[in-house]
Amino acid sequence: MYGNNPDRLVSAARTDEESSFELKLRPRLLREFIGQSKAKQQLEIALQAARARGEALDHVLLFGPPGLGKTTLASILAHELEVGFQQTSGPALQIQGDLTAILTNVRERQVLFLDEIHRLQPVLEEKLYTALEDYKLDIIIGQGPGARTHVMDIKPFTFVAATTRPGLLSSPLRSRFGILLRLEYYTDDELRFVVERSAEVLGVPIDADGAAEIAMRSRGTPRIANRLLRRVRDYAQVRGTGAIDRATAMGALQLLEVDAHGFDELDRRLLLTIIEKYDGGPVGLNTLAASLAEEQDALEEVYEPFLIQIGFLDRTPRGRVATRLAYEHFGLLQARKAQPGLFS
Ligand SMILES: Nc1ncnc2c1ncn2[C@@H]1O[C@H](COP(=O)(O)OP(=O)(O)O)[C@@H](O)[C@H]1O
Ligand SMILES: [Mg+2]
Repeated sequence: MYGNNPDRLVSAARTDEESSFELKLRPRLLREFIGQSKAKQQLEIALQAARARGEALDHVLLFGPPGLGKTTLASILAHELEVGFQQTSGPALQIQGDLTAILTNVRERQVLFLDEIHRLQPVLEEKLYTALEDYKLDIIIGQGPGARTHVMDIKPFTFVAATTRPGLLSSPLRSRFGILLRLEYYTDDELRFVVERSAEVLGVPIDADGAAEIAMRSRGTPRIANRLLRRVRDYAQVRGTGAIDRATAMGALQLLEVDAHGFDELDRRLLLTIIEKYDGGPVGLNTLAASLAEEQDALEEVYEPFLIQIGFLDRTPRGRVATRLAYEHFGLLQARKAQPGLFS
């Protein structure tokens, strides 16, 4: 597994404590879900149409970096449709029997959510094809030469899958989804709403500046915004009055060493390695991962997308390159300018 250090701010992993906290903060209805207006509009239309026809909603594929609301949206769909919600994940399904059991027990029109679908085993993936397309399942009865295949009907249901790596899905699998939605990083304003909403749920007094300060450093990611809010809340309680304003938020975030961009130690190390060790790049991902003693997957799925989004990193065919903004951030631009020809 990668990114499994829960102490890391940017980590994709969650402790049990965080999971129950997230559950509490999870919006239940589409109108409570902040941002992602393109995805929400598409879903609203699809939901209305499915409701009007009394049919199961089309299968939905949600993709994007961790913490942007894929699991939340999947559960919202079940709430909106007023149907059951069942959740599993690619790595959790080990044998054919696991998947067969789930599919044969699926209730009419319910939502079946499969997280990390890119990690589903290929044999199971093939089994899904007919289930998703025709609501039929091939079941093999008996063994050896006497074995027979029996085709079984299953209930029409809505399959919702999530992945951080859509590029790893085969095209037959991708073609089974009627609705494909990419979740984007949130703007600072949207994250401010997320923080304010969560503070309200938690009963923590917060003013607009305090919320903005947390939002700005949350890497466009609601999960991180909520994580920071929790830490700032502790700080406000111990060092202040319990209420969060800008000064309290800044004090807490400084203590946590979260800088103005929400970079954690690995973001800084990643950029500085490219700049100092590889002269700004290009450097190949595997070389970079080895230099940092980090897993390639964590860099590619969690760290790089954000650094690219804010313009600190470029992915080129020859490798990763630190941009002018990255040099500026570390106050290294002057040194770099001494070398002509860069950033032309
Ligand atoms: N649009 C949103 N509005 C409010 N809160 C959100 C939103 N998206 C995510 N969250 C919060 O962030 C947390 C992480 O979201 P989650 O759905 O688990 O992300 P993902 O499955 O993409 O990793 C959730 O517990 C939820 O509280
Ligand atoms: Mg999730």
